[in-house]
Amino acid sequence: MGMPQPPLADASNVDAVDAADQRHTWHPFTQMQEYAGNPRLHIARAEGCWLIDHAGHRYLDGNASVWTNVHGHNDPDLNQALRDQLDAVAHVTLLGLNHPTASALAEQLASLTGGALPRCFYTDNGSNAVEVALKLSFQYWQLVGKPTKRGVVSFTGAYHGDTFGTMSVGDRGAFHERFAPWMFAAEDVAAPIHSECAGKVAKSDASTSLRSLEALLTRDATRIACVILEPRVQGAAGMVQQPAGFVRAVSELCRRYEVHLILDEVFTGFGRVGGLTVAEAEGVVPDFLCLAKGLAAGYLPLAATMTSDAIHDAFLGAFSEGRTFFHGHTFSGNPLGCAVALASLRKLRPLIASGRPTESAEVIGQGLLSEFAADPYVHGVRQLGLTAAVDFAAPVGTPSWSVDARIGYRICLAARRHGLAIRPLGDSVLIVPPISIKPDEAKHLIAALRKAANEVLS
Ligand SMILES: Cc1ncc(COP(=O)(O)O)c(C=O)c1O
Repeated sequence: MGMPQPPLADASNVDAVDAADQRHTWHPFTQMQEYAGNPRLHIARAEGCWLIDHAGHRYLDGNASVWTNVHGHNDPDLNQALRDQLDAVAHVTLLGLNHPTASALAEQLASLTGGALPRCFYTDNGSNAVEVALKLSFQYWQLVGKPTKRGVVSFTGAYHGDTFGTMSVGDRGAFHERFAPWMFAAEDVAAPIHSECAGKVAKSDASTSLRSLEALLTRDATRIACVILEPRVQGAAGMVQQPAGFVRAVSELCRRYEVHLILDEVFTGFGRVGGLTVAEAEGVVPDFLCLAKGLAAGYLPLAATMTSDAIHDAFLGAFSEGRTFFHGHTFSGNPLGCAVALASLRKLRPLIASGRPTESAEVIGQGLLSEFAADPYVHGVRQLGLTAAVDFAAPVGTPSWSVDARIGYRICLAARRHGLAIRPLGDSVLIVPPISIKPDEAKHLIAALRKAANEVLS
């Protein structure tokens, strides 16, 4: 006889849901004391770009549910693809087995690079897509007789995930500093200085960054395996941008010095900054292309690391040669995720071609310039595609805000009262709506953020 169990949270009873949430769920990237002390938002359902709570209040999903949502929520085509796959098979391992949806999707993903990266290694989240790229690069150099090529070069402000490998190649700032004693060493190159909004460039200099990278490669290419880059926008750094052409210049240096280029497009992939990927938009073919987040349109966890035949073929041999890539996750290439991803890709090319994402991005960029750029409480606005940020800070000449003032967080809480769900990064507010957001919804986003900021800052 065990202890009597309390009733399970009744999904239709918001008080029961809240009580169970408070008692049991430890939320990611969340100070739980702060969470407990503020109104909590429980999303009961969603449609299009809108999240809906128990009482029927609607919130524009300004965070695209952690930067994943592409076609909106509850999309009939994606739902149908999911149901069809569910009736066939929900999960089967890819460890030595296959299912047709994985093959069909891998074929589609190969076409993202015009066939230059035809090999698709599936996983189930962005951190793992990057881990795989790093491990493939490390093992490749061993297999081709260049075992000294072990180092990794990354950029200041980089974020590639929360596993130890990805933390090691990311910036050791606020998120990860305390885990530094357990990480491996990586080389940092300063990210370029660049800021634009609605196509207007405020500042731009990539030359220092490229010179440092070239100096490092000139000196150390024989001990460097790979360079890893979030192309065009470092999302988790606060939507920190790079000028057009930077990715290509980095790619040319990597080729010249025989070092792999890993493009981490976990955030930028699938229409976020224009083309289907930055690699495609900039005409760059990396050695590894990491995809996750929008890959399964924000429906299910799915990730892929794309690479070339040349790299794949170095891993071929008799079993006893030890060339096998010993890495795999239980839900790698899950059929439900693959089915949604296929359906999403079918809709995404026409969506991008329709020009609607560009139009909505322009509304956001112009809105930021007109509503926030001259505000004394705003020290910067940035926008590139459907990524944007507003940096709130104390007016020049006044004492800076303490970290515990939590201005960015409070603006985001206030935004809920105006029908907007959005997340801060420190005192910056990050704007990352679904790719399918309509221009009117983009206007609502800017207006709601303005009202929320007025409330908190007045
Ligand atoms: C560029 C980039 N890489 C990797 C990751 C990690 O992805 P995940 O949270 O799915 O592990 C993120 C997440 O925000 C990201 O922005």
